[in-house]
Amino acid sequence: MNIVVLAAGNSTERDVSIVSGTGVCRALRTLGHRAVLVDAFFGCDEMPEEFFPEIYNTEAEAERMREKSALLAEEMRRRRSFFGPGVIELCKAADFVFLALHGSNGEDGRVQAALDLLGVRYSGTDYISSAVSMDKTRTKQVFRFCGIPAPDGRTVYKDRITAEELLKELSLPLIVKPQCGGSSIGVTICHTEEELRRGLEVSFAFEDAAIVEEFIEGRELTVAVLGGEPYPVVEITPIEGFYDYKNKYLPGMTKETCPAPLSEEKTREIQELAVQAAKALKIQAYVRIDFLMKENGSLYCLEANTLPGMTPTSLVPLEAKTVGIDYPELCQKMIDLSMEKYR
Ligand SMILES: Nc1ncnc2c1ncn2[C@@H]1O[C@H](COP(=O)(O)OP(=O)(O)O)[C@@H](O)[C@H]1O
Ligand SMILES: [Mg+2]
Repeated sequence: MNIVVLAAGNSTERDVSIVSGTGVCRALRTLGHRAVLVDAFFGCDEMPEEFFPEIYNTEAEAERMREKSALLAEEMRRRRSFFGPGVIELCKAADFVFLALHGSNGEDGRVQAALDLLGVRYSGTDYISSAVSMDKTRTKQVFRFCGIPAPDGRTVYKDRITAEELLKELSLPLIVKPQCGGSSIGVTICHTEEELRRGLEVSFAFEDAAIVEEFIEGRELTVAVLGGEPYPVVEITPIEGFYDYKNKYLPGMTKETCPAPLSEEKTREIQELAVQAAKALKIQAYVRIDFLMKENGSLYCLEANTLPGMTPTSLVPLEAKTVGIDYPELCQKMIDLSMEKYR
């Protein structure tokens, strides 16, 4: 197939997306596809003569994207359209678009909706389930409605409530995070009122809505669901601190154990909950669901990742490897499952 791997974009997860996209593009080419890596936001400086060339240097393209990252803020001020030059033409010329974007403008349903209107086939779930899953307030509403356990808490809006007022309702320790964030960017654990004040400030620097919820002390687990089937559970243990940005992406900062050391019964319970969460959100193709588990075994569903990371330290590739599916095979599976949307 002629495939555009759409990556980079303009979200806070641009750099992560470039790494995911590089891995996917390289893998798809080893499978014989004519894949090209495309920067969704910066597009092409000039249109290539051949859209899907036989010989292609994925790394060189990724390097060009990384160089452009420094110009992001300026370009965002200058331009109104998200799609960079040539991006729509390339997507329309492709048989399939593999979305390696993460975060806003990519994972939040808008790119999906645009591609739907253009008649372009893409990876992952549809626009509406992407939008609901990106928004942690709406995700929690769906979870509550469907009986999926999630941490207690509430959504707060910039300049509408103070830390002091919040503490009349919720008790410390609390966690604050942007409503539509990702990669743990803007997430703060708060043990004191001062930390809560600071945490709100940090979160509101990204977005006007924040989630404030009970801090769940326990083990961190995640499960991929592909085509309605759960993959093995991964346990995530950062060497130090919580699963923040650096612990997510710097190799060696976090221990990932797959399959997670849990009883068969507990494993099945978590996998079943992941399948239910995916169903509740009406996810198609694939998703990764994050959980916390208290020492007493109670489970809390944190969120659904509709375009989960595909970097070398990412969790879905690790889960796949555990059941004997290598990275290129996983990418192909993702394409095949995504194509079912169009049957
Ligand atoms: N209620 C909570 N209690 C304890 N830790 C949490 C809670 N919510 C989030 N975290 C921590 O923050 C990380 C990021 O939160 P998450 O909701 O998954 O957002 P993101 O979209 O940034 O991954 C989690 O992996 C976990 O380590
Ligand atoms: Mg998460």
